[in-house]
Amino acid sequence: MFKRVSGTKDILPDQINLWQEIEKISRNIFSLFNYQEIRPPLIEEASLFNRSLGETTEIVQKQMFLVKNNQETYALRPEGTVSIVRAYLENNLDKTSPFVKLYYIGPMFRLERPQKGRFRQFHHIGCEVIGSDDPLVDAENISLADKLLKCFKIEGYKILINSLGCLEDKKSLTQILHHSLKDKLDKLCDECRVRYSRNVLRILDCKNESCLKITGSLGLAEKHLCPDCQKHYDAVLKGLDTLKINYEKEPHLVRGLDYYTRTVFEIKHKDLDSQQDALGAGGRYDNLVGELGGPKTGAIGFALGLERLLLFTGLKPAKANNKLIYVITLGEEARKVGLNILSLLRREGLAADTDFESKSLKGALRKANDFQAKFVVLVGDDELREQSVTLKDMSLSSQKKVKIEDLVREVSVC
Ligand code: HAM
Repeated sequence: MFKRVSGTKDILPDQINLWQEIEKISRNIFSLFNYQEIRPPLIEEASLFNRSLGETTEIVQKQMFLVKNNQETYALRPEGTVSIVRAYLENNLDKTSPFVKLYYIGPMFRLERPQKGRFRQFHHIGCEVIGSDDPLVDAENISLADKLLKCFKIEGYKILINSLGCLEDKKSLTQILHHSLKDKLDKLCDECRVRYSRNVLRILDCKNESCLKITGSLGLAEKHLCPDCQKHYDAVLKGLDTLKINYEKEPHLVRGLDYYTRTVFEIKHKDLDSQQDALGAGGRYDNLVGELGGPKTGAIGFALGLERLLLFTGLKPAKANNKLIYVITLGEEARKVGLNILSLLRREGLAADTDFESKSLKGALRKANDFQAKFVVLVGDDELREQSVTLKDMSLSSQKKVKIEDLVREVSVC
């Protein structure tokens, strides 16, 4: 027997209602905020990610699903932001509609060690606003993440926020860290000792206990920000206050991808352990559009991990097809009539199905119950003779004879 690849999941029919509910709510909320959907491909040239996420990032170093084809190397997308910036530029949106609010829902792929809440194929509900560095865009974007979580009925989360500043400020932060970690190297984990020389910011992202202890004691706080970036950060926080969004400033928050500048944020849940890190995260990437060959323009976005949302949502899955009309036929002749009744109902836009397995009446009724059918339409010898059907209302447990020509009206009225 074949098994699914480790770290992937089959989303079965009894789970799909909740997925669809979350997707439906997301689409509604995104359109309330005037975002439009975009669907880039799931594969891109690997070098697009190598360059944009950063050669030293964990994703590029260890987690890319690569497909080699002659001279080309493709990657299953590990995240959406970079593809969307590529699509924005390739389709000339920077010229035709330079300010865009886009959202996406779909699978991402990372070759990680699977565990609870951490998969190799997982799903993002994400969005990107490209074309502005206005701090109120940041505040609105973060408030959108908050709104989504509230609509998913998730409690117990908090929004952590920080500003990395511009590229120059990131360099200052790098210097501060080099200086303050210089004589603590022996207490850092092996990976962080390598990070110290390759990309010291990443040490702040390390989940190792002893590294957390050391970085926690550094007392970092916006010292690296230039006046412009400090002003931007203050305006973002003010915007969040105006929108009454709860947040906590977290000066150690750096995020694991190189493209971020200025605002970064993460949504933590009290019951997610440090290995699973967050329900979602995002931030500004004001240099990425320029780095990929476009104009210099600001951008911000976030992505929520759908599988992690499912761990905490208070939404109850909607009933399956609770308007279903289930047609049960007894005998060969009744079967033919039943098929015509199915066509008639479906032509009228009414969901209908029948018991193709030709079970006993009892078995077929049980099946109707399993489907939570609203009506059962029964066709037997009596009904054939009278050109009628027996219509059972499953919620009222009542039944009556109905002429076939009146059936649509009867089931539509209820
Ligand atoms: P990220 O932090 O890498 O950011 O991923 C966002 C969220 O995806 C995480 O907070 C987590 O909930 C979920 N996630 C990540 N990896 C896994 C996994 N292996 N299994 C299950 N869930 C996972 C980004 O990807 C950025 N593109 C977000 C962004 C958009 N920044 C700006 N715009």
